[in-house]
Amino acid sequence: MANPSDRMKGPASPAGAPSSVLEASGIVKTYRSGWWPRRRAKPVLHGAEVHLKAGEIVGLVGENGSGKSTLMKILVGALNRDAGSVAHSGLVGFCPQEPVLYERLTCDEHFELFGRAYGMAESAMQLSREDIYATLGFAEWGSARVEELSGGTRAKLNLGLALLPDPDLLLLDEPYAGFDWDTYQRFWQLTRDRRDAGRSLLIISHFISDADRFDRIYDLIDGRTVAR
Ligand SMILES: Nc1ncnc2c1ncn2[C@@H]1O[C@H](COP(=O)(O)OP(=O)(O)OP(=O)(O)O)[C@@H](O)[C@H]1O
Ligand SMILES: [Mg+2]
Repeated sequence: MANPSDRMKGPASPAGAPSSVLEASGIVKTYRSGWWPRRRAKPVLHGAEVHLKAGEIVGLVGENGSGKSTLMKILVGALNRDAGSVAHSGLVGFCPQEPVLYERLTCDEHFELFGRAYGMAESAMQLSREDIYATLGFAEWGSARVEELSGGTRAKLNLGLALLPDPDLLLLDEPYAGFDWDTYQRFWQLTRDRRDAGRSLLIISHFISDADRFDRIYDLIDGRTVAR
């Protein structure tokens, strides 16, 4: 998913210190559309930066339209940047704000498809899939097509696909927007378990009440990230 040239080179940190999993700085992005004389430019990011170490849960917050999804897509390599640098180490998982799912495929078939894309062995894919079904509570929908799923179950599948290869770094864009209370609690337990296992998460959130759940928070203001 990430651009191979964005991979971190060399030892990331001295022995004993948590290693760096994401280093992004000077990120600039302007959306451009149309042709002269109706050419439009929408500047969104003006030098944003994000740094994550192993075993951290970091929040990315900001107003609607401030550029959070734009920044996350750039961090994962799904969108080109105009300037700046992005480097990660290890495997990256991404849960986009709008689920990218195939209406005619079942949940099981999605996991199979993504498992192959990640280069996972069938047995490892199945183990991980069963764990995800149990953790997020949607095993009974395994053989249902996406077109039959509720918004919340689609959101579970969207998150589950990002979790499938047990990535070192998870980038989640408002992952729990459609979750019920029980699933929301399970989600936060899952994030803590991953942190305890040395994994890292960057999570876009709108809920002020979630602030305590993050180790650190970046506010995205006027196209720049401000560390709280
Ligand atoms: N493909 C695009 N072309 C042109 N403008 C875009 C495009 N995608 C996003 N924008 C604009 O860029 C700005 C940032 O959008 P973005 O989706 O990154 O914001 P956001 O912080 O994720 O918002 P939200 O909280 O609503 O999800 C917005 O003004 C949006 O209208
Ligand atoms: Mg967004």
